[in-house]
Amino acid sequence: MDKIRIIGGTPLKGTITVGGAKNAALTLMPACLLTDETLTLSNLPHLVDITTMANLLAQHGVAMALNGDAANGGHTGRVLELTAADITNTTAPYDLVRRMRASVLVLGPLLARCGEARVSLPGGCAIGTRPVDLHLKALEQMGAVIELEEGYIVAHVKGRLKGAHIIFPQITVGGTENILMAATLAEGETVIANAAREPEVADLAHCLVAMGAKIEGIGSGTLKVLGVDRLHGALYSVVPDRIETGSYAVAAAITRGNIELVGARFDLMESVNKVLTEAGVQVEETPRGMRVSAEDCELTGVDIMTEPYPGFPTDMQAQLMALMSTARGASMMTETIFENRFMHVPEMSRMGARINVHGASAIVRGVPRLSGAQVMATDLRASVSLILAGLAAEGETIVNRVYHLDRGYERVEEKLAACGAHIERIKSSAGE
Ligand code: UD1
Repeated sequence: MDKIRIIGGTPLKGTITVGGAKNAALTLMPACLLTDETLTLSNLPHLVDITTMANLLAQHGVAMALNGDAANGGHTGRVLELTAADITNTTAPYDLVRRMRASVLVLGPLLARCGEARVSLPGGCAIGTRPVDLHLKALEQMGAVIELEEGYIVAHVKGRLKGAHIIFPQITVGGTENILMAATLAEGETVIANAAREPEVADLAHCLVAMGAKIEGIGSGTLKVLGVDRLHGALYSVVPDRIETGSYAVAAAITRGNIELVGARFDLMESVNKVLTEAGVQVEETPRGMRVSAEDCELTGVDIMTEPYPGFPTDMQAQLMALMSTARGASMMTETIFENRFMHVPEMSRMGARINVHGASAIVRGVPRLSGAQVMATDLRASVSLILAGLAAEGETIVNRVYHLDRGYERVEEKLAACGAHIERIKSSAGE
């Protein structure tokens, strides 16, 4: 597997272009299953997870055409046409689902359009058990009959799904997305209470409206969907990635540099920017996006608790922990969304960070300097947090097993190198 080699200590300066949001794209793509017309998505990032979703959709019978790239010599801003004229297969096989949990997002659309779906249970993953029970209960409320057979969710509905009043006992992003998609073609009205308010959910809702869906309350915790007989094609641009934005904002801060994040949506960054500002980082909106600067700054520790949007995102917790490791004083970081999401801690400790974990909280005591080391990436956000730590560390850091990184960050080493980082990818040799 590829490795990333970094020589840390250079303040990063320049511009980085933010791509389309991975998590939005992963729910917008399966929305194509809801119509026999073409859904065209622009500003699609070029990532391994997107390819996995494309492979999954292809085996359901979706025809796809990658229609050139909008910018940057074939990398960012891809345009993908997805046409599910005939759904030839309603099974999402184990081999694809195990690679990416978001595969479960085909369940709602398949059931709504075809009346049946067979989707492999996602099972555990590096950051916790992550069940899909809430997705299934909500679909049952809408009239689906669901059984678990040989590791598969087997779902059927006679006729159409029925509108229902769904109250999620806990906020779930994927659950809200699955039910939102299913409800667009259901009979009657569906109310989703305690819905996730993440911008990626709102992006999906706006796309569905462009496809002819009737949805009220977009961006709020209560979504009302009036089912329609059919949806049509649409052209939709994926929202910029707020987690990629936040990760590069931390790259500027942790190296005490100054980076303009072109294409960033400042309005979606409130909770992250509040923490950065409290720590002493300067963050400002620019006509092209936002600028993050920490030149000649001494940063101070800030307490953070992860929460559903608009709270501080769990997907930024590891990156902030890297930053807090270089700030003055202590910082308490509490993870409330996922169990087992401190797997980057032992690796950061190997780089000289002082972190103690107590249950769902970690106390981070800033150190004057991190030091380069060999580290191992365990999940997507852990991978990028180790790269960020490496950018600030003295000497050489090698991040091993960067497979996860490529699932969610497009050309990370090129983007950082363009701002002056000493970073390179070491390609794996055959047989490794
Ligand atoms: C999505 C994001 C992920 C992000 C997470 C939380 C995608 C592709 N992934 O994941 O990057 O970290 O939101 O912002 O968009 N839960 C249940 N039962 C369920 C569903 C969820 O118990 O049926 C629990 C989960 O185990 C977790 C919590 O609810 O503890 C939140 O999970 P959820 O919001 O569903 O996360 P994902 O949609 O999987």
